[in-house]
Amino acid sequence: MTQTNRPLVDDIAYVLIDEAELKRRIEELGETIRTDYAGADDLFLICVLKGAYIFLADLSRALARPHQVDFMGVSSYGGGTKSSGAVQIIMDLKEDIGGRHVLIIEDIIDSGRTLAYMQRNLAARRPASLRICTLLNKPSRREVEVPVDYIGFDIPDEFVVGYGLDYDQLYRNLPYIAVLKPQIFS
Ligand code: IMP
Ligand code: MG
Repeated sequence: MTQTNRPLVDDIAYVLIDEAELKRRIEELGETIRTDYAGADDLFLICVLKGAYIFLADLSRALARPHQVDFMGVSSYGGGTKSSGAVQIIMDLKEDIGGRHVLIIEDIIDSGRTLAYMQRNLAARRPASLRICTLLNKPSRREVEVPVDYIGFDIPDEFVVGYGLDYDQLYRNLPYIAVLKPQIFS
């Protein structure tokens, strides 16, 4: 990968979801989740690394109830913009989720393969409940059915970056969701 010092904003074609929209929607999600889990005496958020780290940080602060967090590293992409289809756990949870109310926090659902795999894997550990929350959803790209309980935004079939999401491990630090200029992919 060639890294240069050119500003990342120069690579952006347009902003799809800006900072204010992200903030507003995440506050809504936090409130919805708080209400839905009002009767649960625990809540365990699992952040899917790397892409969901910024979403988890903001959602966790928008969730006004006690909860714990843990991290799971999965890899489904090579370096490009198309999923390889093969999902691999590259870092497992530190904690046991047996008997706990678990909510998976993901950045984006594309083919659905990553989450379908994670759901099977985590369900086998016998949590009290298991739900999925994704910031972004590309419904037109689904190849595998996954039941998604919380969705921040449905988006069109565009490869997006920013707010945790990368292209070739860059652009995660952009504070909004954006589409790159086509020449970046060539
Ligand atoms: P899936 O297994 O095809 O659903 O892909 C899910 C994973 O692919 C996500 O967790 C992301 O890491 C990555 N991904 C899918 N679409 C995009 C995108 O538009 N931008 C950045 N990463 C993406
Ligand atoms: Mg991801």
